[in-house]
Amino acid sequence: MISMVNRERADRVQRDAVGAVERRPEPVAALTETNLREAFACFPSGVIAVCGMDGGGPVGMAVSSFTSVSLAPPLVSVCLQTSSRTWPRLRALPRLGLSVLGEGQDAVCRALAGSGEDRFAGVRWEEGEQGAVFVHGAVTWFDCTLRAELPAGDHAIALLEVGRLWTVPAADPLVFHGSRFRRLDSGERSAVPA
Ligand SMILES: Cc1cc2nc3c(=O)[nH]c(=O)nc-3n(C[C@H](O)[C@H](O)[C@H](O)COP(=O)(O)O)c2cc1C
Repeated sequence: MISMVNRERADRVQRDAVGAVERRPEPVAALTETNLREAFACFPSGVIAVCGMDGGGPVGMAVSSFTSVSLAPPLVSVCLQTSSRTWPRLRALPRLGLSVLGEGQDAVCRALAGSGEDRFAGVRWEEGEQGAVFVHGAVTWFDCTLRAELPAGDHAIALLEVGRLWTVPAADPLVFHGSRFRRLDSGERSAVPA
């Protein structure tokens, strides 16, 4: 009988035989916050500015927890810390602008995540027709309405419906990985079948 460990080894050999990289993650002794943070940071993401007009001025925050969810209806999600002071202001607004930050917008991300009095001081932005706020230099803008919120531990999952969309398809996004900002390299790998 093949044990779990041996089955895993057999799988690995099989993967090696089809040319995959030989690699086996090490077990981590404890599920501490630090270890989890490090593990989550292995997954690369973009960075989104979630912004809207509140009382005559822009309010917003940077998030990396964006996920595309559904095409019909068009839905996306973001996760917000329950300790956030900005999300309670954003969630009350009728429309939210989600801007996918572009390569080189590290400073914009830092500003929108920072503790500065005016997060928008060095950020170029514009207001949409219904109060969403969009960041200039971004590669995609989503004009969204909050549809649902689900408690999820120390975060809440927010589900947003996309009403309008603007894109610059050829532009490169800012990449966040391993707690660092990175850029895509120009080398294309294989395409995903349509
Ligand atoms: C690269 C990056 C990604 C972040 N992603 C998230 C996120 O997904 N969700 C979240 O609630 N905060 C995220 N933050 C933190 C917020 O931008 C912000 O710093 C935090 O909410 C504290 O400010 P607040 O109390 O005004 O909300 C991220 C910060 C950085 C720099």
